[in-house]
Amino acid sequence: MFESVAVAEFDRPQVVVLTRFQDGEAEAVLKAFDKKTPGAIVEAVKAALSRPEASGEAGKMAEAYPVGGGDGLPARIIIAGLGKKEKLKEGDFRTLAAAVGRRMAATKETTLAVHIGAAIGETGLDAGLAGRCFGEGLGLLSWNNQQFKGKGTEQKKRAALQVKADRKTVEKGMVLGLKLAEAVNLARTLSETPPNVATPAFMAEQAKKVAKLGGLELTVIEGKQLEKEKLVGHINVGKASENKPCMIRLAYTPQTLKKNKTKPVVLIGKTMTYDTGGLSLKVNNGMVGMKRDKDGGCAVLGAMLAIATEIKPTRPVVAYLCAAENSISDEAYRPDDIITYRNGVTVEITNTDAEGRLVLADAFCYACDKDDPAYIVELSTLTGGVVTALGSTYCGMFCDDDALRAKVEKASTVSGERVWRLPMHQEYREMMKSPVADILNSNPNRKAHAGQGAAFLSYFVKEGTAWCHLDIAGVHATESESGPFVKGPTGWGVRILCDLLSGE
Ligand code: BES
Ligand code: MN
Ligand code: ZN
Repeated sequence: MFESVAVAEFDRPQVVVLTRFQDGEAEAVLKAFDKKTPGAIVEAVKAALSRPEASGEAGKMAEAYPVGGGDGLPARIIIAGLGKKEKLKEGDFRTLAAAVGRRMAATKETTLAVHIGAAIGETGLDAGLAGRCFGEGLGLLSWNNQQFKGKGTEQKKRAALQVKADRKTVEKGMVLGLKLAEAVNLARTLSETPPNVATPAFMAEQAKKVAKLGGLELTVIEGKQLEKEKLVGHINVGKASENKPCMIRLAYTPQTLKKNKTKPVVLIGKTMTYDTGGLSLKVNNGMVGMKRDKDGGCAVLGAMLAIATEIKPTRPVVAYLCAAENSISDEAYRPDDIITYRNGVTVEITNTDAEGRLVLADAFCYACDKDDPAYIVELSTLTGGVVTALGSTYCGMFCDDDALRAKVEKASTVSGERVWRLPMHQEYREMMKSPVADILNSNPNRKAHAGQGAAFLSYFVKEGTAWCHLDIAGVHATESESGPFVKGPTGWGVRILCDLLSGE
C-alpha cells in the first residue's frame, strides 16, 4: 500500500490522529492542543465532536477539516474511537493504524501525526508497546502484494509515508514495530513467491541473505550430506522433484555468552516449497495454494532476521528450515515404503501427503543430537484437520510442558497471534503404531488428524526436551482483508517468535 513507512520529523502533518474514549469526556480530546494550536483546528475538532461517528466507540472514526486558517493546517483530523477505557489493549493500536493507513492511502496523504500518549496515560497501558503495535499496523499494511504484476498491469504508484507521535516512547515503539513488520513482510513475500521460483535451493539463497544481514552462521545440508546425516525424511519426500531438498540451519550467537544460558532455543519450520501430495496425489483442487506449504519456514526465517537485528536475546538461537518439494515421478517415495530415521525409529509410509511430519522429524532428531536445546518450537502448515477445528482464528498449539506453554501464550498475547491448546495423549501415540514398522506416518482412519501430527513428531524428540508444535495451516494466510492484512499470506509466527525470544 505504501512504498515505505518511516518515523520522521516534520512540521506540518497532512493528517492528525486524535483519540477519544467512549466512556470519557468529549472535551478530553482537546487536551492534545495548547495555546499555539491554530484556532481553526480547535474549532473544526469542536464541531466534529458532536457528530455520531465521534462517539468514541472502538473502530469509529470522525473527520474534521480545519478551514480558513491559512497554510500549514492539516487537511484532515481523525478523531478515532478507542472504546471503553478498561477494555483497551495495546494491540488495538495495530487495528487503528491499519484503518488510518487505509484512509491515507485512499486520500493520497503522506504525513501523519499521532496523538495517543495522553490516552494511554489514562489507562496504564505500555506506551512503547502501543507505539510498536501502531508501527506494526502501518508496516504490515505497506506490504507490496503487487510484486508479481508484470507489463500487463498498470503499476500503481505507492507513496512514502512519514509518521510521528506525541511521545518519544511511542515513537521508539513505532520504530521497532516497523522493523518487526519488515521481517513479517519478508515471510509474506516468500510465501507469495511461486513454486517455480521458490525451490529449496532458492530458500537456501534467501537464508544466506538473512544470515549476511544478521551476522548468522549458515549451514545448508544437501545431497550426499543428507545421506551421511541420515536425514531420510528430506531424502524421501524430496526424491521425486528436480528441485533437490535441503535442510537449512541458521545459528545466532549472542555477543557475550552467559554461563547459565548456553543452551539454544531451537526453531523449526516446515518449508515444503510445493505439496502435490506425492503419489497420494491431492485431488479436487486441494493442490491450489500449496506454494504456501513453506510458510512455517518463511516465518522462522523472518523471525531469525528480526531476532538477530532487533531482539538480540542473550541466549543462542538455532533455526532449521526443512526444505523439499513433494512431487511425483518414477523416483517418488511411495505408500508402503519403510524408512529408518537417525534415531533408529522406523516409519511405514501410508500416505505420501503426510509429508511435513517426515521432514520435520529429521530436524527434531538432528537438533536433539547436535544442539542440546533449551526447548524447541516448531511451526508447520501440517494438517487440514486443524483448519476444521480452529478455522483461521487460532493456531493449534500442542505443548505439554507447562513452563514453555506459558511462555508461548505470553508471547501470543503481545503479538496478537492467537494460539489454542490442543491435546496430546498416549492414545494418539498408539494410533501411530504400525503393524510392520515402529510407526506409520498417517493412520488411515481420519480421527484426530491434527493430534496425529503431533503424536508422530513426539517419537523424534529426546526424552526430557520441552517442545511445542504450532500447526499454522489455518492462520498462515487469510481469504479476506482484515486489520492490517490484505487477502493472502499473514506471516503468522514471526512476531510471536520474536516476543518469545525477547524474554530470553
Ligand atoms: N500441507 C498439508 C496441510 C494443509 C492443508 C496446509 C490445508 C494448508 C491448508 C499437509 O501436508 C497435508 O497434506 N495434510 C493432510 C494429511 C493427511 C494426508 C494425513 C491433511 O491434512 O489432509
Ligand atoms: Mn501434504
Ligand atoms: Zn504439506
